[in-house]
Amino acid sequence: MIERSVRTAVLAVLLLGALLPATAGATAGVVVSGDSLATAVGVEVLEDGGNAVDAAVAVALALAVTFPEAGNLGGGGFLLAFDPSTGASWGLDFRETAPAATDSLFYLRRDEEGWDQPSLLGPGAAGIPGSPAGLWVAWKRGGRLRWRRLVEPARRLAAEGFTVGEKLPRHLREAREELTRWPAARERFFPRGKVIATGKRFVQPELAAVLERLETEGPDFFYRGDFAREMVEAVRADGGVWSLDDLASYEPLWMSPVTVVDPGDSTLQLIALPPPSSGGVFLAQTLFFLNALGVRDTAADSVERARILIESMRLAFADRNHHLGDPRSMRLAMADLIDPRYLRERARLLPESGRGDPRAGPGHPLREGVHTTHISILDEEGGAVALTTTINSSFGSKWMVPGKGFLLNNEMDDFDTRPGRPNTYGLVGSGVNLVHAGRRMLSSMSPTVVLRDGRPWLVLGARGGPRILSTILQVYLYRTVDGMGLSEAVAAPRLHFQGIPDRVFLEKERCWPRLEEELRALGYGVDADSWMAKVQAAEWDGHRGLGAADPRSEGRAAP
Ligand code: GLY
Repeated sequence: MIERSVRTAVLAVLLLGALLPATAGATAGVVVSGDSLATAVGVEVLEDGGNAVDAAVAVALALAVTFPEAGNLGGGGFLLAFDPSTGASWGLDFRETAPAATDSLFYLRRDEEGWDQPSLLGPGAAGIPGSPAGLWVAWKRGGRLRWRRLVEPARRLAAEGFTVGEKLPRHLREAREELTRWPAARERFFPRGKVIATGKRFVQPELAAVLERLETEGPDFFYRGDFAREMVEAVRADGGVWSLDDLASYEPLWMSPVTVVDPGDSTLQLIALPPPSSGGVFLAQTLFFLNALGVRDTAADSVERARILIESMRLAFADRNHHLGDPRSMRLAMADLIDPRYLRERARLLPESGRGDPRAGPGHPLREGVHTTHISILDEEGGAVALTTTINSSFGSKWMVPGKGFLLNNEMDDFDTRPGRPNTYGLVGSGVNLVHAGRRMLSSMSPTVVLRDGRPWLVLGARGGPRILSTILQVYLYRTVDGMGLSEAVAAPRLHFQGIPDRVFLEKERCWPRLEEELRALGYGVDADSWMAKVQAAEWDGHRGLGAADPRSEGRAAP
């Protein structure tokens, strides 16, 4: 299995200046991305007078060409924007949906029928993509430049090609066995049996043709008509169950962002997204628990900081895995899970010292209610965008649509495909996140904008499945509680804990030398040689934008 952290690309775009209308020319902003070519596309859009939404759309499309590990047309995501003209935020869910022919037993049946990893490999693992429709409606609502201007750089990169760097061949080699099972991806990435090579020009004419249609027609062709019919036929020929109706009925959904006031500093508000993103609930819960445990009295490199992080995440992941999913499937209203009365009650389970109860399950609020790409932007008018998009695993389902040049996601694995059994991230669900026709699978993607005194200050997002959640939390703490600079906060060691498995994941080469030993002494199981999510962060320093590319990634901040 390839390194799981590669399944999401991350990019952050930050642009701020005075409160003046944008004009063409140099920008005070910054673009941070998991790929330097996509970063350059974003900078040019900003220099052309584009705003944060314009830049996010153009960068996301460029990533679909230059970063096929995670950038995509065949996936989905979430976008969070802060509109400076209203001082309000809006969210967009363009997550994939489950095909109508699937249900909660679909993958169990496929297991019995002998399919190989049916929720991960091939078009049977793919949800109905949201990216083409999502990027279009985001642009319609918040963009300023012409649509064609935003798609053209991606089309050109596909048609004229780009020089292959070091990372793409490495990632392709890691996924070779799975990517070469089907002819379209095999021929695209392994021509004449050899992986595309560093230093060579990589031209993608089929993808360029799709982008040309997107540029001139908008996304409708993707969901209706001949193109949609060809996709459905190809998907079904290789074991998928899409229908024309699944595509025609796909719709991005507007979301009301969640505002979390930092319980330790009321000048800071975190704006994040509600389910099916788990970011908003996770941040609200963990910050409440950490504050209750006195996080501000702990040192960043102390075992006590690690302990309270672990115990806060233990409770938050138990709720995530049991209660969260597509809001239409949820039995509880999100508000009940972040209600201070409920959180106070739940915080009673937090141990004042030592290790908490590994059997801690989800809470029960009384009232019953009802490998990824990240882009963060702050623009010259004070607007902000955080956009995370994904095809789930690195190179998604490994299945490329024949003749179309793009890979499909394997997002169906984010549902509880086999309740009680771990998915590819080791997450074990037993709650409301079952496969259900037309619904969206739960996500750890957490595009986040932090307001200070009501204005965008930090833009955060990451790739790396559930480790996105622990990463955003820790970078935020390092920056706000520990006073580290942005780059230091992004580079600083992190841990991850998700309850099941009952083990703490550390990154050995970065973590404090004695931490592993001290955690073991407290009774924690430790996996010391683990990977962390890749975060790209942006910050307004009062005068200009600063960017910090995660040193764990190949990201780049510019200009
Ligand atoms: N595909 C990973 C996530 O959305 O959490």
